[in-house]
Amino acid sequence: MSAVFSDQPNSQLPVNSRRKIPPGPRGEPIIGNLREFRSDILGLLETSARAYGEIVHFRVGPREIFLLNDPYYIQHVLQTNSRNYRKGMALVRSKILLGEGLLTSEGDFWLQQRRLIQPAFHRKQIAMFGQIMTDCTLEMMTQWQSYIEAHQPLNMAEEMMGLTLNIVCQTLFSTTITEEERAVVQEAMEIVLQLGVKNATRLPFFEKLPTRGNQLAKKAIHQLDEIVYRIIRERRLYPQVDEMGDLLTLLMTATDADTGEVMNDRQVRDEVMTLFLAGHETTANALAWTWYLLSENPTAENQLHTELNTVLGGRLPTMDDLPKLPYTQAVLHESMRLYPPAWVISRQAIGDDEIGGYPIAAGSAVLLSPYVMHRNPNYWENPERFNPTRFLGDSLQWRPHFSYFPFGGGARQCIGMNFALMEAQLVLATVAQSYRLRVGEGFKIEPEALVTLRPRNGVYVMIEPR
Ligand code: HEM
Repeated sequence: MSAVFSDQPNSQLPVNSRRKIPPGPRGEPIIGNLREFRSDILGLLETSARAYGEIVHFRVGPREIFLLNDPYYIQHVLQTNSRNYRKGMALVRSKILLGEGLLTSEGDFWLQQRRLIQPAFHRKQIAMFGQIMTDCTLEMMTQWQSYIEAHQPLNMAEEMMGLTLNIVCQTLFSTTITEEERAVVQEAMEIVLQLGVKNATRLPFFEKLPTRGNQLAKKAIHQLDEIVYRIIRERRLYPQVDEMGDLLTLLMTATDADTGEVMNDRQVRDEVMTLFLAGHETTANALAWTWYLLSENPTAENQLHTELNTVLGGRLPTMDDLPKLPYTQAVLHESMRLYPPAWVISRQAIGDDEIGGYPIAAGSAVLLSPYVMHRNPNYWENPERFNPTRFLGDSLQWRPHFSYFPFGGGARQCIGMNFALMEAQLVLATVAQSYRLRVGEGFKIEPEALVTLRPRNGVYVMIEPR
């Protein structure tokens, strides 16, 4: 970490000297903190929050950026004054992939789509998916046998990515994609996401240049489009389209209350692409980190096994078992505390605002980082320690709501939260019933902060039958 820290507001800023600016790392002339934002953004945000407190000021070129590290300031942006904030640059740039889908759209159009899609994520509706989730997990596990026999390590990050993609396809779109297509989706998303993160700190015209990265992304989006449009085309040809009753049907048949119009293929494509991405990458990362943390913490792992043995006694978990598995759920929450898949939520101020006594000018970027907040020692004792019991009993009740926010909050809170929690709990219980996953001794896994927080270089484990 190369940030130069000062206790005083940044003296090099070309801003009105009467304006009150929160403290922050000084950065370099002209480019400000750009270099650290590019090279080690997690380290920069965390160290700065510890050094400067609840609100930290950065500058990247001409852009002013504020990191909020106080649950009430975070609540202010996501809930109390959320109308003054729109999505931040990384998501705006993701529109090249996601178009005007739920994650990236704004205003009345977003609200209309959210109201339309929300019923598909109702608890009762998603309860029907439990069986598919465990079936997909079992199918994945049958393919592990050859690795066990050959004593070969397996990359859990990849396994979880394939599994959650399969689950999202089958539950939301009642469709399977071929092995080949799955590989294309994973590779294409990787290319587009890597580029999206890089472009977030670049000027907009950079996206239009015929660079190798931009051309690869264009090709990747084209490949993804082919798969998604194939799914839509096949569904349009299906005679009993209304009877499928899944999310895809809902998207394709819903009519606008005022105009009576249905969504065109492009709109359906944007929502499908959004749910493809938002619905698998995050949950896969949450699970991959969980396997790593359990392998590193045998006491917690034993406690998990004890709960599974007592409640399930060797049978597969169902939806009805989930409330009886509080430790299993606590393991997932503790894993998402330490490694929240959505490690940063960014917003842009529409009009001037004031937070913590500091003016936030219109156009400023505001960063809310679950990764940083979840490790704030004012709210989490021994924050680096993996301890699922933090999430047992009523311990969450006395915490400020936004001291733990892996799914965001306010009107734009994750629509798939219950879906993800149910899926992760079922996958964890199904796999941990049968196997213990061991990361090689002394093998430390570093986080890589892309759009989501991934384990860099994967999570390679040896699989031991229990
Ligand atoms: C562990 C898993 C997950 C995590 C940590 C997560 C996290 C988040 C977060 C933090 C947001 C808010 C982003 C913002 O405010 O800018 C969000 C939004 C969203 N998530 Fe998730 N998510 C997960 C799983 C899912 C699943 C399974 C789905 C769908 C099947 C999904 C679909 C969405 C959508 C569509 C939005 C945009 C909602 C809106 O703005 O109306 N997510 N997610």
